[in-house]
Amino acid sequence: MSQDTFPIRKVDHIRHYVGNARQAAYYYQHVFGFSITGFHGLETGQRHEVDYLLEQNDVKLLFTAPIRPGHPMANAIAQHGDFVQDIAFEVDDVDWAYNEAVKRGAQSAHEPYSLEGDEGSVRVASIHIYGDTLHTFMNRDKFKGHFLPGFQTRNEPGDPIGIQEIDHCVGNVELGKMNYWVKWYEEVLGFSNLISFDDNDISTEFTALMSKVMASGNGRVKFPINEPAEGKKKSQIDEYLEFFGGAGVQHVALRTDDIIHTVSRLQARGMEFLTVPKTYYEMLSDRVGMIDESIDELAELGILVDRDDEGYLLQIFSKPVTDRPTLFYEIIHRKGAKSFGKGNFKALFESIEREQALRGTL
Ligand code: FE2
Repeated sequence: MSQDTFPIRKVDHIRHYVGNARQAAYYYQHVFGFSITGFHGLETGQRHEVDYLLEQNDVKLLFTAPIRPGHPMANAIAQHGDFVQDIAFEVDDVDWAYNEAVKRGAQSAHEPYSLEGDEGSVRVASIHIYGDTLHTFMNRDKFKGHFLPGFQTRNEPGDPIGIQEIDHCVGNVELGKMNYWVKWYEEVLGFSNLISFDDNDISTEFTALMSKVMASGNGRVKFPINEPAEGKKKSQIDEYLEFFGGAGVQHVALRTDDIIHTVSRLQARGMEFLTVPKTYYEMLSDRVGMIDESIDELAELGILVDRDDEGYLLQIFSKPVTDRPTLFYEIIHRKGAKSFGKGNFKALFESIEREQALRGTL
């Protein structure tokens, strides 16, 4: 194992910029079962925007919305729709991380500063990644409060469905830019390339894409990066880039220890998922061998299975959760497997293409 040249503890939270944070919070509380645990807005002295913090086990989501006309955040939302604007990291030393990243070529978004409050201070700094997305570095070792100074603690529990942590976050970048960002993650944040997929792995009759999975030094942060590849028709990545207005976060994978429970609850609450043809399940045991779950139950819910050298994984992909065909979620349950479901790509992309055809964007 090579030395970790850029220590990152873990993903701290994912921040979404949205048009209406109160309603976004309600959706994530009532569909995904997150609890609303923090608030920062007019009532807590924040005059121009509002934040809602939601949590379930190790997953923290922050929803931020502008509350004044002409707010610069509103321009970004007008461009992209509601979107993932920041994947924030917890690090040991924010000043070191920021200075080192900038020295290695990152573009600065915010120089290090301290947020101060009665319960201590939190050090924060940010750098730009693809599109309008940031990585924020933060450290709250000198903070006794809950999330950030200024936040009011809220206790509005959701009904949790077993979501444990963020497994990976996927970025879609422009044609020809995948290797640029692979190199950027290697050089700036000391990540390494875990797995690569080319258009032979990820292609259907019509469309193709390429993907490389980047992982942080301690292996806890995993970021696949996709770019479109030449196909007969428009790929799902091209569709994303067109509707999003450039590069951005395509999906966030949430890890569960009981995918049947998690997905049944999501479906009961109205979450829609991509489906694969019934023939997928007829061939399943030949492809993946013995598994603990009932294949009938998996077929009923539309859960996919793949095996690698270390075990197997179960996964399912939602339809986009925004009006634009941009951000979606994956629910993943790992039983030893550390991979990303390559064996499901073809069945899955045919499913995405059926949805694209319905949208008239294939
Ligand atoms: Fe994924």
